[in-house]
Amino acid sequence: MALTDREKINIVAPALRAIAAGGKPHGPPGGALKLVRFEKCEPPAEAVTVELPAGAETPGEIVDLLKQALAPAGCEAGAVGVKGLGTFSITEPPATAGRAAGKVAVITGAAQGFGLEIARDLAAEGACVVLSDIDDEGAIAAAGEISEKLGPGRALGLSMDVTCGGSVAEAVEVVVDTYGGLDLLVSNAGVLKAGSVKSQPAGDFEFVTSVNYKGYFLCVQKASPVMAVQHLARADCWSDIIQINSKSGLAGSNRNAAYAGSKFGGIGLTQSFALELMADGVKVNSICPGNFFDGPLWSDGETGLFVQYLRTGKVPGAKTIADVRKAYEAKVPMGRGCTTADVMKAVYYLMEQQYETGQAVPVTGGQVMLK
Ligand SMILES: NC(=O)c1ccc[n+]([C@@H]2O[C@H](COP(=O)([O-])OP(=O)(O)OC[C@H]3O[C@@H](n4cnc5c(N)ncnc54)[C@H](O)[C@@H]3O)[C@@H](O)[C@H]2O)c1
Repeated sequence: MALTDREKINIVAPALRAIAAGGKPHGPPGGALKLVRFEKCEPPAEAVTVELPAGAETPGEIVDLLKQALAPAGCEAGAVGVKGLGTFSITEPPATAGRAAGKVAVITGAAQGFGLEIARDLAAEGACVVLSDIDDEGAIAAAGEISEKLGPGRALGLSMDVTCGGSVAEAVEVVVDTYGGLDLLVSNAGVLKAGSVKSQPAGDFEFVTSVNYKGYFLCVQKASPVMAVQHLARADCWSDIIQINSKSGLAGSNRNAAYAGSKFGGIGLTQSFALELMADGVKVNSICPGNFFDGPLWSDGETGLFVQYLRTGKVPGAKTIADVRKAYEAKVPMGRGCTTADVMKAVYYLMEQQYETGQAVPVTGGQVMLK
């Protein structure tokens, strides 16, 4: 079937990121590719121009055509005009240092909590970050703060509802138009509605499953083809998908089956995606953090779990929020909750490790251990 213009853009931009980076990656394998910005406009006079023949309908054919077209100019090409599509401007990634230098990272659920802190850390370590969230105002404001601190273009905030394929696809299109592709997807958006199996409304179960499980599937479905093109265009270019799972993905959670089930399922997806996407140069892993007591899910003064558990008397004898927190900290062998710094050590390990995929890495202070 003939490719749509949008599908062609989603092939040309990531292919150019990889091809224009040339044979000398500056960094480890899979290190910094170029950035590519797409605009529906006439190319400048000095641009390399390409026409995609009607017969070129697969990523492989388009990548080969672009390689031929760029052969004389190679890494020096500043812009490529593709007839009927528009102009692809090629630039160097920002000259940053750090463990994520030169990467483009998309983080879902990044308006607050783990997602926001992961995005900030990746940016501080040199990545261009895309903060996506159903709370688009929060994501855009947070991205604005990062760009103000680190420089224009270093962060982009956008709307994405991970439960809706159309919304995820649109967000991926904006990422492709802005940066040309992506090197890391952090599938972080997640929700929790606890409840007994005997009484939990099916709607609550569906809500949790839809965000935590189906949402992860949809994000990988829409983002991984872009990563695959980068690998097709340059075989040493590998990308990462990291799902923020939970300790509840490794051990059952009492009266919290919807959440634990969605997280167990997420590990099944990770293992299956890892097998399938190996050929596309994509590593897929999960991280299973313990409780993030300092995040809004637990500590929000109105809706946080500490307040809820105090109100409902879940911790016998607890009179204050501090009592509830102490009781939960006591469940962790290391005596404290998980922090984003703990999670980031796993994120960078997974990005740097070239010989692992399909794993679920616990970060639980010893609370849940692998069998
Ligand atoms: N907080 C913890 O103790 C803890 C522990 C282990 C794992 N986790 C996991 O970490 C991840 C983040 O949790 P958190 O504590 O930071 O949560 P949080 O509630 O603070 O933040 C979640 C973010 O996801 C966004 N979101 C919700 N539904 C969405 C949707 N349909 N599409 C896009 N975005 C959506 C929210 O707007 C919010 O910004 C989740 O996957 C969670 O399961 C959390």
